[in-house]
Amino acid sequence: MNILVTGCKGQLGTELQKLATLSSPHQWFFTDVDTLDICNDTAVEACFEANHIDTCINCAAYTAVDKAEDEPDLANLVNALAPKVLAEACKRHNALLIHVSTDYVFGGDAHEPYKVDATINPQSVYGRTKAEGERLIRESGCNYMIVRTAWLYSSVGKNFVKTMLMLGDTKDEINVVADQKGCPTWAHDLAIALVSLLNKNGKNEVHETFHFTNEGQITWYDFATAIMEIGGKHCKVNPITTDQYPTKAKRPAYSVLDLSKIKDFAGIEIPDWRKSLEKCIDELKWMASLRSQ
Ligand SMILES: NC(=O)c1ccc[n+]([C@@H]2O[C@H](COP(=O)([O-])OP(=O)(O)OC[C@H]3O[C@@H](n4cnc5c(N)ncnc54)[C@H](OP(=O)(O)O)[C@@H]3O)[C@@H](O)[C@H]2O)c1
Repeated sequence: MNILVTGCKGQLGTELQKLATLSSPHQWFFTDVDTLDICNDTAVEACFEANHIDTCINCAAYTAVDKAEDEPDLANLVNALAPKVLAEACKRHNALLIHVSTDYVFGGDAHEPYKVDATINPQSVYGRTKAEGERLIRESGCNYMIVRTAWLYSSVGKNFVKTMLMLGDTKDEINVVADQKGCPTWAHDLAIALVSLLNKNGKNEVHETFHFTNEGQITWYDFATAIMEIGGKHCKVNPITTDQYPTKAKRPAYSVLDLSKIKDFAGIEIPDWRKSLEKCIDELKWMASLRSQ
């Protein structure tokens, strides 16, 4: 297959690039905003045409959740209108669109994991624009797999794990919210899951939504505590409430995703959140040791 990856310099795109360098039967075309702006429909069409794209994995997004409250038009352009551009190109070229969405499409008032068909109720500009992106893809009539994920982290870019490790080096104690529950996702595991979905589906027609995170349910406080422990940082983590840590964008209090559909469809086992966190922190330590040589 000829696979276009957009937003390839981000967390997820970087992990897909690593997978593609391993033996892969596919031809990969990696792009980011400097080589293919997904908002530019002419450029998108030219890319599909020139490279005979039959699969597009959209890793490009506007992911600054708080900043989106001040830049709703830009967030909507990248998270909603641009996925529509990709979906329409996929429809024209009979290609599959694998699009990544978010747990922030949900309201957060549930008490059990959200199933893929649960009612959405986004609480932020980011969540609303991602929900609109999903809607426009479904409406386009293209072949699609929408994969919602949550709390994504990796060894590249800005994320909670790297921020906690940095604070662990510079602070004696920190406060972290303990009343928002979800599950982290190592971008490496998500990249493997996306390729599994693709390989499993082959060229079949598909119009499906999936959920993928690591296994488990934790709070940001639990996550921060584990990061400090595994990272060997002597920084005390104090639990606080959401009210004590106001943010511009409202976060769902509960956003655990039900993973049964992707496990059944792709036949995959999903690693526990702590095991994957250990692997990512090992990778970060290895990268730091290379830099200090
Ligand atoms: N991060 C999370 O915690 C999280 C949670 C749930 C779901 N997700 C979803 O997971 C997916 C991957 O997230 P991620 O964390 O890997 O994102 P990321 O690290 O922010 O990467 C996104 C990439 O897209 C690029 N991009 C932005 N606008 C673009 C455009 N117009 N055309 C082409 N590329 C563009 C960005 O470039 P610049 O950096 O130059 O803008 C960046 O390289 C996204 O759909 C996101 O919504 C993420």
